[in-house]
Amino acid sequence: MSHDPNDLPPRPASASRCETTEIVLPGMTNGLGNLMGGHLLHMMDVCAAISAQRHSGQVCVTASVDSVDFRAPIRLGDVVVMASFVNRAFRTSMEVELEVWAENPRTGHRTKSNRAYYTFVAVGPDGPLPVPPVLPETPDETERYNGAARRRELRLVLAGRLALDDATNLMALLRDRRPTPES
Ligand SMILES: CC(C)(COP(=O)(O)OP(=O)(O)OC[C@H]1O[C@@H](n2cnc3c(N)ncnc32)[C@H](O)[C@@H]1OP(=O)(O)O)[C@@H](O)C(=O)NCCC(=O)NCCS
Repeated sequence: MSHDPNDLPPRPASASRCETTEIVLPGMTNGLGNLMGGHLLHMMDVCAAISAQRHSGQVCVTASVDSVDFRAPIRLGDVVVMASFVNRAFRTSMEVELEVWAENPRTGHRTKSNRAYYTFVAVGPDGPLPVPPVLPETPDETERYNGAARRRELRLVLAGRLALDDATNLMALLRDRRPTPES
């Protein structure tokens, strides 16, 4: 078995896409008739895990979830639509991006409800396994691929796994964003 991700053939970002739909039923709601956050998080984790497993062809575990904000409630009877895909793979970990919409069953109108970034790690009986690189094929996929390197550095710095000085992509971005003195 290969232990170097560079030995594995790249896989297109689109190959990892997972889309799920589910109707919000009474047992899934809180006292206000809205989908419970914990239930939504479970659905999101499952969808994102499928993307990671489609990309890597391995069993994957959630290593971290970046901040999740619940922008708009999802109501009883709405259809929850979510889509996830692997933005970028590193050595054994992958960044999975996931978006959630609430679809009104009468109008079909979709309201964006959430977005989250997950980190999944492919694991075997002896621990983490190498995963294939992602091949971005569209400008949007390339932007997500490039952003994933900076987001990975930020989450590893926050997790105490990377020194800020070694976060070169992140530091370059912060330097570029520094306001220039007015002439
Ligand atoms: C995720 C896990 C396999 C990592 O194991 P580990 O011994 O830290 O292994 P490593 O140090 O080799 O790290 C493996 C990868 O995980 C990444 N990683 C570890 N912790 C991370 C974190 N908090 N955020 C982002 N990435 C993380 C590392 O950067 C590394 O990525 P890379 O190989 O692409 O560079 C291990 O912590 C684990 O099994 N956690 C429990 C997972 C689980 O049960 N999830 C379900 C929720 S309860």
